[in-house]
Amino acid sequence: MENDFLWWRDGIIYQIYPRSFADSNNDGIGDLQGIIGKLDYLQSLGIDAIWLSPIFPSPDVDFGYDVANYKDIDPKFGTMADFKQLVVGAKQRKIHIILDLVLNHTADQHPWFLQSKKSKDNPYHDWYLWEDPKLNGDPPNNWQSIFGGPAWEYDPDLDQYYYHMFYKEQPDLNWRNPNVRKEMLSIFSFWLENGVDGFRLDVFNAYFKDAQLRDNPSKFGIRAFERQEHFYDNSQPEMISLLNEIRHILDQYPGSYTVGETFLANTEQTAQYIGEDKLHAAFNFDFAENRWHPKRFLSSAKKWYRALQEDDWPNNFLSNHDMTRAATRYSFGEDDRRAKVAAAMLLTIKGTPFIYYGEEIGMRDITIRKKSDIKDPIGKTFWPLYKGRDSCRSPMQWTDEENAGFSKSDPWLPVNQNYSTRNVQNLAKDPNSILSFTKKIISIRKNEPALQRGDFIPLATDPKHLLAYSRKYQEDEIILLLNFSSRELAYDLPKGVWISLFEDRKTFEKQVNIRPYQVYILKRED
Ligand code: GLC
Ligand code: CA
Repeated sequence: MENDFLWWRDGIIYQIYPRSFADSNNDGIGDLQGIIGKLDYLQSLGIDAIWLSPIFPSPDVDFGYDVANYKDIDPKFGTMADFKQLVVGAKQRKIHIILDLVLNHTADQHPWFLQSKKSKDNPYHDWYLWEDPKLNGDPPNNWQSIFGGPAWEYDPDLDQYYYHMFYKEQPDLNWRNPNVRKEMLSIFSFWLENGVDGFRLDVFNAYFKDAQLRDNPSKFGIRAFERQEHFYDNSQPEMISLLNEIRHILDQYPGSYTVGETFLANTEQTAQYIGEDKLHAAFNFDFAENRWHPKRFLSSAKKWYRALQEDDWPNNFLSNHDMTRAATRYSFGEDDRRAKVAAAMLLTIKGTPFIYYGEEIGMRDITIRKKSDIKDPIGKTFWPLYKGRDSCRSPMQWTDEENAGFSKSDPWLPVNQNYSTRNVQNLAKDPNSILSFTKKIISIRKNEPALQRGDFIPLATDPKHLLAYSRKYQEDEIILLLNFSSRELAYDLPKGVWISLFEDRKTFEKQVNIRPYQVYILKRED
């Protein structure tokens, strides 16, 4: 294989939600020692990097996405020494580490915010977005919080409002304050010095809001947040020069990486933040939000590739900690056939694949039955229309033992009831399981530069049932045939002899028959 393998471009990134991955001290919450104990598993899966959802001290209103100290580890996850042990263990296995930086807002318990609300002349006051009420006492403008209600919270002591795009316990920072900017940028070097390889930037394009705080224009929608165009509370042009600065820091650490979570942005807007002096990558939600239809995925992918500049590299994901798991969205019951097709697509279409923990075993969302069981506050706010994000964050299913081998005491969220059969230990034994299937494709991908960085060429086909494309790199050409349907299909191959990399290395010429939900990975024989 080529020796210019670049981990974040050619490799596979695995997202861990640390609370739910593995609990080493049996307090019901996953932790760093838990992850360390699973490094061999991650290595055997064949992934190249782990993205850890936030592990910094947090009051956990938004489970880590409300940070109270950016340069330490939350004691419930472990210590700095545990973190260093994780870095060393991961490096030994060629696994890179990506931390999740939540720099748009802090926790309301962060010492900066506690200072900030003490008085208007406190040096930290200007670190957040404080504004006087309108003459009639109303908030400064019409901006809404995505988690429900106005984005402005009144503080009677100061007789001022502060701004929060998310929970009121997540006050937004004032990125125009030079001290804030300097302090936030120092976080990158701090963790790079501690052996981290990259960062996921939480809602980075929300850091700046309109300086004049103009009202958002209204539009049709159901919830108040959706009844306005998010024109002034998001995606301000100043973001670009900040990205240049962030990239400059990263470039001093060769091989480091940033992937941004673009907030309220379409594919084209997302692509604008990627480039050699901006982010290395950003998430394209359009691809993840598709319904089960080959044409939909194909057109999202094509749109994504078209939007990117020539030297940019796409990435793809189907699940994360904020959305219903792919297997729950696409599969019927416990049938994994669609989840396998989805995995094959994610691992072979052009772009770095992101796997959400448990996706490799086809984990399904848990069902939330009672409002009082909910942990994610938005689930309580919008009950019963929307039950929040607990469902996709249930404990990883390792074995058929109590609590799926995640913990010896009650986990913070219930384990999916299907754990007695759907667990790593059980599926690893079954050569036809989604886990074995995923591992097989990952190992094929590892040996084929065409599947990593090859060009992407859609192939003409029956667009209702089949997704067909080829990946080309130098002399290599690989055809992917993904049957999205329960029908038997036939496909006319381009001239030549094609060898199946999957299954039994059979060769094919002219035509191939594709069983329902079957996947073919065919390489041109030379
Ligand atoms: C991002 C995170 C989400 C969090 C929000 C606020 O969207 O993925 O989990 O609630 O930002 O930090
Ligand atoms: Ca624990």
